[in-house]
Amino acid sequence: MKVWVPRDAAARALGADEVVTALTDEAAKRGFDLTIVRNGSRGMVWLEPLVEVEVDGVRHAFGPALPSDAAAILDLSGPKALGPTDDLDWMKRQDRLTFQRVGVIDPLDLGEYEAHGGLAGLRRALGMSGQDIVDEIKESGLRGRGGAGFPTGIKWDTVRLAEAPQKYVVCNADEGDSGTFADRMLMEGDPFSLVEGMAIAGLCVGATKGYVYLRSEYPDAIATMQEAVRRARAARVLGADVLGSGRAFDMEIRVGAGAYVCGEETSLLNSLEGKRGIVRAKPPLPALEGLFGKPTVVNNVISLATVPVILEKGAAHYAGFGRGRSKGTVTLQIAGNVARGGLFETAFGLSLGEIVDDLAGGTRSGRPVKAVQVGGPLGAYFPPAKFATPFGYEEFDAEGGLIGHAGLVVFDDGVDMVRQARFAMEFCAVESCGKCTPCRIGAVRGVETIDRIAAGEPGLLPLLADLCETMRDGSLCALGGFTPFPVMSAVTHFPDDFAKAREAAE
Ligand code: NAI
Ligand code: SF4
Repeated sequence: MKVWVPRDAAARALGADEVVTALTDEAAKRGFDLTIVRNGSRGMVWLEPLVEVEVDGVRHAFGPALPSDAAAILDLSGPKALGPTDDLDWMKRQDRLTFQRVGVIDPLDLGEYEAHGGLAGLRRALGMSGQDIVDEIKESGLRGRGGAGFPTGIKWDTVRLAEAPQKYVVCNADEGDSGTFADRMLMEGDPFSLVEGMAIAGLCVGATKGYVYLRSEYPDAIATMQEAVRRARAARVLGADVLGSGRAFDMEIRVGAGAYVCGEETSLLNSLEGKRGIVRAKPPLPALEGLFGKPTVVNNVISLATVPVILEKGAAHYAGFGRGRSKGTVTLQIAGNVARGGLFETAFGLSLGEIVDDLAGGTRSGRPVKAVQVGGPLGAYFPPAKFATPFGYEEFDAEGGLIGHAGLVVFDDGVDMVRQARFAMEFCAVESCGKCTPCRIGAVRGVETIDRIAAGEPGLLPLLADLCETMRDGSLCALGGFTPFPVMSAVTHFPDDFAKAREAAE
């Protein structure tokens, strides 16, 4: 009998390892021949640990599994038997491209990776010129999935056309946004897709060396990526002779010490160079003067891990998903007070309401949704009145928000938006690198101002708006520049909470 139990950190935190022990013991008791594969997560976090059992070649899901469910799982019965995994609504409704193999294969089995479409993109890229690869990426419409949404093909072209004896590819895996976990899930569930994406980027721009800057808070992802690089090297997917082509590309995993601002690309590059993680002024762009002053592609995990499927299936296939200028798929990460949280890959364009009410099933508490923060701690809070907004870069921008790294955190009507606004300012004050005044000083003044508003001084709201404007326009990077999004969206969409603060003070 073949069984899959995720090795994903979320599943392990919920007891996946104990379930493996219980299944092994139960099988031994029955004299069963049990093969347990530790796969990535299918993304249905509310069902983790999600155990799958092969029945007549079809994988059947059981979850959320406890060690005490081991006997029922091996009997293929019980209330946690959910039927074929691929028939579950959450799975059926997705457009899985970047995450096509996550949860399906053994993450570190290169043979399985290849059997499921892996390395086809790299093989194709090896027969193409840098210009052809750039054209393919441009045609696919892929934009930076870290948050900023800059066209990946244009970024690569800048690096490709730069004249330099050494260039680099750097993967930003310092996934610091609260409520986001797509990078982690990808690295733990299908690390070779990131290795392949980086190799294609290197071939395209003429870089022979890549680095993954991975946060220390992700020990499982670090171990998986290190092992994947080791195996890729042994199989000559990386090294001096990529897949026998005579072309070179190698990469290393580097672990960050843990600072939100090190997710900002120039701060990350400083940290990689062994310096303090302080933001650099742009220009020069990292594409021209990046790591050690050399032209550098800096891309998020999801952007790079999407490249292989674009090369494998063709730009037109990828661009066939999505809407407007938001082409392809987005890896939604749904968290907070929701009935069903997890990762859902879909074409851009679902409305915020469909995501929150339908996919996530509303709140876990059963109380009405009051606010959804989209795009991490620097993203705006959306009230249900804005639920018709389609999920896309321009659409969220038009509503005073951003999709960022596509994380959504849902709150019910128990949330106090004055406290949330204060939290945003406090977060900025704590995480500021200190280089520029609007952020370093502004965030501290922002906390004080919100405290005074909460203590019954509503006359300070215009001052808060003024401060936010200064931070937005005068900060050197997105940390100070985007903190006004959550603050001002709380003020704009939830005026009652600010009025209540005054009443309470009176
Ligand atoms: P940005 O708009 O300054 O730059 C976007 C990217 O395009 C950068 O890599 C930049 O170097 C590149 N670029 C711009 N013009 C270029 C050109 N002409 N040629 C080549 N490359 C060019 O945005 P930034 O500051 O890099 O990122 C801000 C975003 O990061 C925000 O939208 C925020 O949502 C997101 N973010 C994500 C986090 C996460 O955990 N994933 C954490 C914090 C923020
Ligand atoms: Fe540093 Fe904040 Fe200025 Fe960014 S905005 S450079 S984090 S002080």
